[in-house]
Amino acid sequence: MTGTAAIVGTGFVGRAWAIAFARAGWRARMWDADPSVPEAARGLIGELLPELAKNGLLGDASPADVAARLEPCRELETALDGVDWVQESAPERVEVKQALFRDLDRLAPDSAVIGSSTSSIRPSLFTGDLPGRRRCLVVHPINPPYLIPATELVPAPWTAPETVERAREVMLAIGQSPIAMARELDCFVVNRLQGALLEEAFRLVDDGFCGAEDVDRALRDGLALRWSLIGPFETIDLNAPRGIRDYVARYEGMYAGIHEDQKRRVDWSGPVMDRIETERRARLPESAIPDRIRWRDRRLMALMAHMRKARTELGD
Ligand SMILES: NC(=O)c1ccc[n+]([C@@H]2O[C@H](COP(=O)([O-])OP(=O)(O)OC[C@H]3O[C@@H](n4cnc5c(N)ncnc54)[C@H](O)[C@@H]3O)[C@@H](O)[C@H]2O)c1
Repeated sequence: MTGTAAIVGTGFVGRAWAIAFARAGWRARMWDADPSVPEAARGLIGELLPELAKNGLLGDASPADVAARLEPCRELETALDGVDWVQESAPERVEVKQALFRDLDRLAPDSAVIGSSTSSIRPSLFTGDLPGRRRCLVVHPINPPYLIPATELVPAPWTAPETVERAREVMLAIGQSPIAMARELDCFVVNRLQGALLEEAFRLVDDGFCGAEDVDRALRDGLALRWSLIGPFETIDLNAPRGIRDYVARYEGMYAGIHEDQKRRVDWSGPVMDRIETERRARLPESAIPDRIRWRDRRLMALMAHMRKARTELGD
């Protein structure tokens, strides 16, 4: 399945969506409130495409094929004309989303799904008064979506089930891994899980049980190795001879015992921040952060290339 997507707001996330759609054969129109941004975005994407191709992450397409599907637009009307999908990726402020969704709903064809990349705002807060609110939902990527497939689909109370189903089909068609929520909730699924983990990480360091690097090791050299293949439920299903119920029978008491401690909130920006920041800056000076980001993205590409190959060869 291919079609035309309008990417509205072409900063970090919008650019990444443009790659995800265009790589899958979709035309990606790009519009931004700042008229210089879509053309600049096309340039930045052009620089990235050879690296993606080198890692086998453009499928059958060449960098030139993908680049030819990108269409920077100067007018929002032109960008939305006849599209099948709209992906809003403007700044994370509810009043921006409210104003923009009024225009998107007015200008996009009735048949188009309108998704928002918002990381935390419930869709009911910016779609409620729209005539076309049935075709609106949150489609939240983990940045960058062309490397990380998980994508949260979050309906407002009035989003039509067909809209969610269509969104699921489109996300699967472009190679994403949709998480379709039954109803909306602040911060959705991924950031709630990440928030729970960060809260415990800050607490461990704040209470002086271990340092920041120890927490990073626990994840990087421990849990995350398994989690890059299987999630936490599958992990515990495989960690007891008779599966998940057996695991819970054996270990629920252990986790219940620490639950009381875990309810105490830690002030992330309090004294613990000095300790964590001092440790981080000793390992990575602030001036080295951009290089480290580029390193991370290159390694992530290589990892995704490996995982795609492994899935094809070994089955999923
Ligand atoms: N950065 C992330 O890791 C991440 C991950 C997932 C989702 N998101 C979400 O994606 C959205 C965009 O975030 P980002 O990191 O790409 O921000 P960004 O600042 O990089 O890009 C935002 C773009 O929107 C443009 N813009 C401003 N007002 C606009 C308007 N009214 N209409 C259209 N475009 C407008 C800006 O010119 C800019 O190019 C936010 O809702 C954010 O929460 C971000």
